[in-house]
Amino acid sequence: MATAITNISSLVTNDPSLGHGPLGIIDSAAVVIDGDRIAWVGTNSKAPATDSHLDAEGRAVLPGFVDSHSHLVFAGDRTAEFNARMEGRPYSAGGIRTTVAATRAASDAELDANVARYVAEALRQGTTTFETKSGYGLTVEDEERALRVAARHTDEVTFLGAHIVAPEYAEDPAGYVELVTGPMLEACAPHARWIDVFCERGAFDGDQARAILTAGAARGLTPRVHANQLGHGPGVQLAVELGAASADHCTHLTDADVDALASGETVATLLPGAEFSTRSQYPDARRLLDAGATVALSTDCNPGSSFTSSMAFCVALAVREMGMTPDEAVRAATFGGARALRRTDVGRVAVGARADLVLLDAPSHVHLAYRPGVPLTAAVWRAGARVL
Ligand code: NIG
Ligand code: FE
Repeated sequence: MATAITNISSLVTNDPSLGHGPLGIIDSAAVVIDGDRIAWVGTNSKAPATDSHLDAEGRAVLPGFVDSHSHLVFAGDRTAEFNARMEGRPYSAGGIRTTVAATRAASDAELDANVARYVAEALRQGTTTFETKSGYGLTVEDEERALRVAARHTDEVTFLGAHIVAPEYAEDPAGYVELVTGPMLEACAPHARWIDVFCERGAFDGDQARAILTAGAARGLTPRVHANQLGHGPGVQLAVELGAASADHCTHLTDADVDALASGETVATLLPGAEFSTRSQYPDARRLLDAGATVALSTDCNPGSSFTSSMAFCVALAVREMGMTPDEAVRAATFGGARALRRTDVGRVAVGARADLVLLDAPSHVHLAYRPGVPLTAAVWRAGARVL
């Protein structure tokens, strides 16, 4: 059964051949959904007759957000750590251990319910595709379990056994790298599409990250890297060299890092929720865009450094704090995320694409940044099904 959404004031397609500007905006537009796909896109006056229809009443529609970086398989809470940080204590990777202990102690059902809760929360805010990672288990059994839980909620699952060195291996990091590249990878590879490493001081250095990502690639997992979040380091250039889909965070970049991202295929995924929640310097999106890099925006939703599931909040931060225009930020949060996940079926509104749409309670997508913190999501469709 086909459904038309008519009377759209401004439709973001992300396809410049369909409309004006890089967002391919069609003014006075309509979209037809048939099954789980977009069947027709164009101007309102030419919309075909359909079985059912919804009048957008002059409001804006954009593709569902593509959140390409989250850590949703966890238990527990780090309110006390956040409070301490807001009193002046700096963020470090060490807090991850608190969540590892809570996650190991949780039942499968608790973990499953937690992921379901945050996925539903994100969906209500317009996120129709998301990636999520393991990384709070850090034993063979707990990492595999996290990936099984994640795979019940999304097909974009990332093995992050190399989040930090497991507490049991604190005195033997090389032993932990052997575990991650050996039995843990063996158990986890069947449940994931991607492999990730937190390449940072206090987590894994460039050589360790290279060994882990290369082993993962040999087992059919495509690399993505937590890179250059807390300081300068080898992560970004390693990501580009290994053909990673994405280098995530990219907060502390040298000119050579920016050049590498601009000339390679690796997407620069920026996670402003992390800088907000750790009260840190934001990444310079303007510098990356001006150099020609592809930029994605994502929430990094996790209980430690960025406990937000709101892509709209990240868009607003990117515009206010990172030198992006509203158009660039909205594109990065939709099309950019799809690029970071190497997906062409989402992040755009075109015939044949998955019918993932957000109707805003606003006349234009610019309002996502112009009206920060305001719940503007009026309706959401995922794969053609109305979910809000
Ligand atoms: O992306 N950087 C590493 N991992 C997460 C933080 C996880 C945590 O603090 O629990 C991040 O910011
Ligand atoms: Fe992260």
